[in-house]
Amino acid sequence: MAEMNRAWVLVQRPVGDDFDSALKLQTLPMPELGEDQVLVRTLYLSLDPANRGWMAGPTYMPAVPVGVPMWGGVLGKVVKSNSPKFQPGDIIGGFGSWSDYCALPAGGVNKIPDMGGLPLAAAQGLFGGAGGTAYVGVIDIGQVKPGQIFVVSGAAGSVGSLAGQIAKIQGAKVVGIAGSAEKCAWLTNELGFDHAIDYQHENVRKRLAELCPDGVDVYFENVGGAVGNAVVANLAKGARVALCGLVSQYNADDGPAAGLDMLPILLKSCTVQGFILLDYLHRLGEASAKLGQWLAEGKVKYHADVTDGLENALEAFKTLFQSGASHKGKMMVRVDPSAN
Ligand SMILES: NC(=O)c1ccc[n+]([C@@H]2O[C@H](COP(=O)([O-])OP(=O)(O)OC[C@H]3O[C@@H](n4cnc5c(N)ncnc54)[C@H](OP(=O)(O)O)[C@@H]3O)[C@@H](O)[C@H]2O)c1
Repeated sequence: MAEMNRAWVLVQRPVGDDFDSALKLQTLPMPELGEDQVLVRTLYLSLDPANRGWMAGPTYMPAVPVGVPMWGGVLGKVVKSNSPKFQPGDIIGGFGSWSDYCALPAGGVNKIPDMGGLPLAAAQGLFGGAGGTAYVGVIDIGQVKPGQIFVVSGAAGSVGSLAGQIAKIQGAKVVGIAGSAEKCAWLTNELGFDHAIDYQHENVRKRLAELCPDGVDVYFENVGGAVGNAVVANLAKGARVALCGLVSQYNADDGPAAGLDMLPILLKSCTVQGFILLDYLHRLGEASAKLGQWLAEGKVKYHADVTDGLENALEAFKTLFQSGASHKGKMMVRVDPSAN
């Protein structure tokens, strides 16, 4: 076992998008293993826009304390166990940290089943938080019906790319909104979206009015800001908005310059429902089963965008907040070069 443990430590709370001042790569002693804990070698680290909120202060969970390794979703290999439930060599998923190694409570990690030839990174995306969020947002919150018009923003990202495909399987006409022509081509050519709008180069409000003259029935909101308001302006009467995320405003410490325009929601009697996956963990079993079935049937495609090296995690993380940055699908960091 390597004797050093590199970790991205939260040294101060972020201000705006200045993540360089907030996170520093440090070499720490190997974590001490407590009772009923497992020592985990990180194989993959998940990078998520929500990490910004966890750094800044309490959200739907307490803030990451300043001075400790940044928290994050990990896939890892057990190298030492103080729990009868886990043996060295077991592959687990759980809530760990941006580090080579972490000591985790045995009760807080899950054994990853055989992935049937799929890359391990799929456990974090398709069968993890992204798949669960997309499924709950489309089925439980959006309640999309066959023939309806479904629009998703952040469409080429981890959650959005799955949400659009799930809505398509439900029989909806699907329009994705993303930040580059290349991402839009991927959505329509590879993932089967009916249409895609490049919000950096097209007028979203006008394009939606052309594509959906009778209005948008379900909007899966991931970004907020000008994109969100362009969709809200095109909502159909009685439309549902599944409010999943607002990435355009996560770095705005004093709140967004402009919020969601509520007037069309009033005039069209629409329903806006926010949701956090942690409140829907009981739905993960069904989500994983359905996504696995659709994957096997070739109805869902899954893509992980993998950056190699823990030392590159910070640069990769920053691109989550950059419109049109090149990543597509689930952003992961391969921390152990031998991970599949
Ligand atoms: N409610 C929940 O439980 C839950 C769970 C997971 C994720 N989420 C939320 O779901 C959303 C998507 O998360 P994800 O993990 O799938 O991330 P992601 O979409 O893979 O990455 C974020 C994407 O957001 C877009 N973006 C960044 N800044 C933007 C801006 N100013 N305006 C418009 N678009 C911008 C970028 O794509 P473009 O290049 O296309 O602009 C970027 O690639 C986030 O808001 C996240 O917080 C919610």
